[in-house]
Parts: sequence; structure tokens; C-alpha cells
Amino acid sequence: MRIDVLTLFPEICEPYFSASILGRAQAGGRVRIRCHQLREYSLDPHRKVDDRPFGGGPGMVLMCQPVIDAVEAIERDGAEPATRVFLTPRGERLNHAVACELASAARLLIVAGHYEGFDERIFDVLRPREVSVGDYVLSGGEAAAMILVDAVVRQIPGVLGAADALDEESFVGGLLEYPQYTRPREYRGLSVPDVLLSGDHQRIERWRRDEAVRITARRRPDLLSPGE
Ligand code: 6GU
Repeated sequence: MRIDVLTLFPEICEPYFSASILGRAQAGGRVRIRCHQLREYSLDPHRKVDDRPFGGGPGMVLMCQPVIDAVEAIERDGAEPATRVFLTPRGERLNHAVACELASAARLLIVAGHYEGFDERIFDVLRPREVSVGDYVLSGGEAAAMILVDAVVRQIPGVLGAADALDEESFVGGLLEYPQYTRPREYRGLSVPDVLLSGDHQRIERWRRDEAVRITARRRPDLLSPGE
């Protein structure tokens, strides 16, 4: 898979993409992630990318020319068409299903906004998918882009080794994760549940399943009865 990220702050995103599981996925050739500086595509002599909103109001709006030219230029480099994804608070909410869907694309072009938003005509021209990472406002789309890329890349086959255990994670079975313990067996008077030390794998599996259901029912009942 190839992922291009268009942003005003590539220096924020690049180290995140180079570390840990994402860095390993790139080194192993499963994904190639490239960040692009939006200013480099501005035709303005001062590399301006934003301007004041028509009609007044606070903040600045990203202009059509740099964003649309950048998307089209980045897409021209490479044969396969890209699925375009803009990070905006008004987009569809990111969840496991959206991450899996995007992970099946051969190529993603992700655009992280900043300031008050994008000129609406950018959406008219590019018709991208719009994604939000939750119901709160971030100063920019960069943190959201890192979240999206991370969630997507870990769904690419071969990215997670057996040690990373994809299928038992929270949300995969529609449940939150069961409690985990490691050494020591006792800490400040708190013991590890006996069942986990029993060596009885069937009992352990049953306990974990029950705990996952109990925790999900208490914290996220919406996950147990979706659509209600
Ligand atoms: Cl994608 N961008 C910004 N600026 N804020 C957000 C968001 C995105 N998703 C949730 N809040």
C-alpha cells in the first residue's frame, strides 16, 4: 500500500510514521508513507495557502489552488488511483470498520487541514471521503492523520506479527479488551486472578471472554446493542 499525507506540518507526522509498528511496516515493504508540505504547491510568491473567509468570521480558510494542485500533482506520481481522505471534524466518525475499508485500498491520499477549514469548492472538485476522529475539536488535522494512518496500517495483512495479536484486540470482536496482567504475581497486596495461573487454557479463554463482556456492558453498552 502507498499512503501520501498532505499537511502544513510534515515534520510533526514523519517521526510518528518512522517509529514502532509503522516504521517496521515500512521497512518490511508492506506500506510506503510519504509526507508532503502543502506550501510547496502554492503559486503565491510568499507560499500563502490560506486567506480570510468571505462573509467574515474568525480564522483562516485553506485556499483552493494549493490544495487541489497538490492533490493532483501527488496523484500524478504513481500509476494507481488514490482514495482521497480529508480529515475534518464534520467527516464520518473513524471506527474499526472504516479503518478496515481504507486498508483495502491500494493507495490513500490523506489531507490534514489546519485553521478554520477548507474552501468548500475543494470538496466539490476532489469529492474526497471526509473523516473525523471524534467529537471534539483539534487545532489541526495532523494528530487525526496520525491516528488514521496508524489504525489503517495495522489492518494491512502481514503488518502485525503473531506477537501483536490482531484478532483479540478491543473492537475486533465488537468487545473491549479483557484485563491483562504480568509479573509480579502480587503488587501492593493486589493479586493476579488465579485462573490466569492455572494453566487451563479453556478456563482462561472462558474467563477472558466473560470479562470482556462484563467490561463492555459496563463501559460501552452501545457496542453490545448496535443501532439502538
Ligand atoms: Cl479530523 N480535525 C480537527 N481539526 N479536529 C477534529 C478532527 C479532525 N476530528 C475530530 N476533531
